[in-house]
Amino acid sequence: TIKMIKKIACIGAGYVGGPTMSVIAQKNPHIQVTVVDMNEARIEAWNDDDLSKLPIYEPGLDAVVGEARGRNLFFSTDVDRAIDEADMIFISVNTPTKAYGKGKGQAADLKFIELCARQIAAVAKSDKIVVEKSTLPVRTAQALKSILDNTGNGVNFCILSNPEFLAEGTAINDLHHPDRVLIGGEDAAAIQALVDVYASWVPKERILTTNLWSSELSKLVANAFLAQRVSSINSISELCEVTGANVDEVAKAVGQDSRIGPKFLKASVGFGGSCFQKDILNLVYIARSYNLHTVADYWEQVIILNDHQKTRFAERIIRTMYNTVNGKHIAFLGWAFKKDTNDSRESAAIYVADHLLEEEAHIVVYDPKVPAEQIYRDLDALGTRSPADNRRLVSVASDPLSALNDAHAVAILTEWDEFKSYDWREIKQRMKRPAFVFDGRKLLGRAELEALGYQYYAIGE
Ligand code: NAD
Ligand code: UGA
Repeated sequence: TIKMIKKIACIGAGYVGGPTMSVIAQKNPHIQVTVVDMNEARIEAWNDDDLSKLPIYEPGLDAVVGEARGRNLFFSTDVDRAIDEADMIFISVNTPTKAYGKGKGQAADLKFIELCARQIAAVAKSDKIVVEKSTLPVRTAQALKSILDNTGNGVNFCILSNPEFLAEGTAINDLHHPDRVLIGGEDAAAIQALVDVYASWVPKERILTTNLWSSELSKLVANAFLAQRVSSINSISELCEVTGANVDEVAKAVGQDSRIGPKFLKASVGFGGSCFQKDILNLVYIARSYNLHTVADYWEQVIILNDHQKTRFAERIIRTMYNTVNGKHIAFLGWAFKKDTNDSRESAAIYVADHLLEEEAHIVVYDPKVPAEQIYRDLDALGTRSPADNRRLVSVASDPLSALNDAHAVAILTEWDEFKSYDWREIKQRMKRPAFVFDGRKLLGRAELEALGYQYYAIGE
């Protein structure tokens, strides 16, 4: 039997664990929330007195942490102690695509999840509710339960699935006003305990409860549907470019149908982020493992189209610049996978840059939030060329004008608002002629840029 939750622990202080637990603590001052991570530098940053130094940039996060930290919100590296004290333990660790062995390149790597389960089992001396917050393959709860029950000290573990739907850049708003909170489980008392945590601020009708497998699967499906919309409109963007239709006009006309809806139909250089690709690959892998090859092929196309969109943008740049970018200075505005985040995991910018670097272009990157070492790390991780070559061909500017000085071309990779407010007349004076702009986010206006004398290319026009 489970009573009211007094102490929560969360393993994993990343993009999900950090913001999610901060809001749970903010809205439940009577619950002590401890977020733990084995990454000491990350925990240190979460505890920094200077709230601008938090490890994650997310609008509004500093205020929430400022309100709750030290009151009932704590960040620590003492994983065992947090597990020992908690009534409820969220697992919010990373679940990347497997990079080795069976399912390499598709399946989710669950080694961090399993390590958490074994640690919880080893430490727990009282009954625990264990909550899957990470995105997991359907039926992972079964494996977790088996590990916990077989390696534990005879205490009772109850597993819930509670996937997170926040998007980066809008995490705090998404957490404060979720479309829904999803809780899957078998034990009514445990489900109710978690419902009560969210009911502190989420209207009851937005808290859905299902069985475990529906909850686990719904998370993968939600991301697959979202990514599919982006790939659908991106596929149409290519058709627009050859037919004279404009993809924004098509998206508006199509999206105004209330059955289709207007959101998530913005054509782009391709979706990025740590999750869309990983979760669809995982869905494809699961479908194949049940021999559902037609289903798997269907969802795989979402990824194939997205890869095509990134390649096509890079090839368009090369073709337009007379098939020669060798030694040319191409300014990249934006490296993050979307605006208002410092996250660049799977960002389209990485793959577009890689393609241009194969042609020996010289890229100068400016991003308002992504630091230089992260940009080099992203490129080095591809393994396409040596770290020395990446540093020879790519430089990182700390202000936009020094990235744009003497550039042959500008490529817009992230839709940061500030790029719109730049003095594009002055920038033109600083650039080489003809001055090319390749707008991968449809951020600037064709009429304005052409009036200033730019050669302007935008996706889907
Ligand atoms: P992240 O990499 O930012 O954070 C994960 C953290 O877990 C890291 O700091 C890592 O050090 C820590 N960790 C891993 N194993 C550990 C262990 N055994 N003990 C202690 N700490 C450990 O990842 P994230 O972006 O927060 O994603 C976490 C999960 O949430 C993933 O499954 C992801 O699919 C899912 N998700 C992410 C988002 C998002 O916007 N990023 C949204 C919804 C769901
Ligand atoms: C996405 C989902 O929106 C969240 O609900 C989910 O919780 C999360 O994945 C996750 O599981 O990690 P996120 O990746 O943070 O959130 O950001 P999105 O706003 O979904 O954008 C993803 C990518 O798609 C970005 O590169 C974005 O630029 C691109 N995108 C999005 C488009 O190109 N066009 C659009 O219309 C929308």
